[in-house]
Amino acid sequence: LIDLDMNSFHNVLLIEDNPGDTRLVTEYLHERFGNDCAVRGAATLEAGLAQLRHSPADIVLLDLGLPDSVGLETFSAVNAAAPNTPVVILSGDDDEQVAMRALQVGAEDYLAKRHADSASLIRSMRHAVQRRRMSVRLRDSEARYRTIVETAEEGIVQLDSDATIRFANTRLCNLLGSSDLVGRSFTELVKASDLPALMGLMCTAPGERNSAELRLLGADGSATWVVAAAGCLVRHPGSNPQLVVMLSDISARKLAEAELLALKRGLEARVAERTAQLHAANVELESFNYTVAHDLRTPLGGILGFAELMRTDGEHLLPAPQAQQLAMIEHSARTMQGLIDSLLALSKISHQVLHPQTLDLSTMARRVADQLQVSEPLRPVQWLIADHIEGEGDANLVADVLGNLLHNAWKYSAKAERAVIHFGVLPNITGNAPVYVVRDNGIGFEMATATRLFSPFQRLPSARGFEGSGIGLATARRIIERHGGTLWAESEPGQGASFYFTLGGRPPLAA
Ligand SMILES: Nc1ncnc2c1ncn2[C@@H]1O[C@H](COP(=O)(O)OP(=O)(O)OP(=O)(O)O)[C@@H](O)[C@H]1O
Ligand SMILES: [Mg+2]
Repeated sequence: LIDLDMNSFHNVLLIEDNPGDTRLVTEYLHERFGNDCAVRGAATLEAGLAQLRHSPADIVLLDLGLPDSVGLETFSAVNAAAPNTPVVILSGDDDEQVAMRALQVGAEDYLAKRHADSASLIRSMRHAVQRRRMSVRLRDSEARYRTIVETAEEGIVQLDSDATIRFANTRLCNLLGSSDLVGRSFTELVKASDLPALMGLMCTAPGERNSAELRLLGADGSATWVVAAAGCLVRHPGSNPQLVVMLSDISARKLAEAELLALKRGLEARVAERTAQLHAANVELESFNYTVAHDLRTPLGGILGFAELMRTDGEHLLPAPQAQQLAMIEHSARTMQGLIDSLLALSKISHQVLHPQTLDLSTMARRVADQLQVSEPLRPVQWLIADHIEGEGDANLVADVLGNLLHNAWKYSAKAERAVIHFGVLPNITGNAPVYVVRDNGIGFEMATATRLFSPFQRLPSARGFEGSGIGLATARRIIERHGGTLWAESEPGQGASFYFTLGGRPPLAA
């Protein structure tokens, strides 16, 4: 049927009991299409059906009044036997009513024999082929879409502009536990609090696609979360637009989200609780640290005072070994005093009020370098201090950080043949805080020990022989943390060390 050339008919079945009419129609067809067109004749319905069973026809020309069948039943029998074959009725009666009925039940055309001539017959036959071709296509396409709609995992609903349901697929009926949805208002099936979302969907204009999450109410009162994706269906120009909505069940996802949220809240609460505990413990430790350090100063001051008195008053009374021991007592007490002062300074940083301002870090670093160089003018150190480095922070505290880091670089590069000390800023990666670096080419250290360096009084074995008490980096880190920044180190034994820090803002990944 599909391949049929519209300009010719090869295989026509003419079911007609009047031999004169049969002859006339056959002549018309041969005249028009030549001998290519085979016209098979059948004088009764039964003979016609037998012909159709034997081999299909391009078209059937059918008389309704046959010896064994009269009226539209004749057509129905032919149509049932060959549903894809177009049928043109050639009737002896010119009955308008029958003609209308014939078209309604699926005949392609109805011609009254007495008005039919060659031209009108051929035109009608062509028209018939075209119409049947289209209806077969339509039927196929409808079957295809019905299969898609009925096998879809999603619920599918078609709504009028007032939300009346025109169609609902089986999946949606199952989801809602109701087989009779057509004619009901979709608004009854949506949870009241989600109606604004539905109203938003109802405003979907032709060509648009909208989606929203809503809860559908089942017949048993249960609510199911779905994501509803709506598109506007304009069936033909001028018709009221309808909405086609696909509804995917997302209750599993919503459940997982709720569990995740509960878990997150629980975790947040636990983190907050732990943080509070940690803070309280820190405060306690701080105050203990401060009290101990503070209280130790007084007796230590006494020891130092009396030792000094003994030295000055009894200088010539004391035998030499005892005088030497006294000097050692004084020296140890002074060291202890230094440690206590450092501890006090460290604990003060936590409470100190910061006065942040824009700082010229290059100048600050140069000042430290000059002081160090003055302390040992003959030591050849190459200072590489970059210009115009700025940062935001408390002037005194940041100067302490630079002092500690540069002093370490100076100290631990003392044995290098040509010490080089560098202060600079890393090329900025957009959005991150600037990273400052103090680098030397001194003794370096094992990275495995790097975290220990920042705890008070922690010194590495490699630092033996260099003076110091191990408080510098702990102080520097606490200052940096007070600024909301990060301080970290990179090194290898014998390869020098690099200390990086930021003064707040988002730290780079390396930190
Ligand atoms: N630039 C560096 N090169 C190699 N090792 C270093 C460097 N800076 C610090 N360290 C190691 O880290 C330890 C801790 O440093 P920190 O500055 O806290 O103490 P310190 O320099 O020993 O004494 P203080 O700074 O209190 O005078 C040092 O003892 C040393 O082992
Ligand atoms: Mg130090």
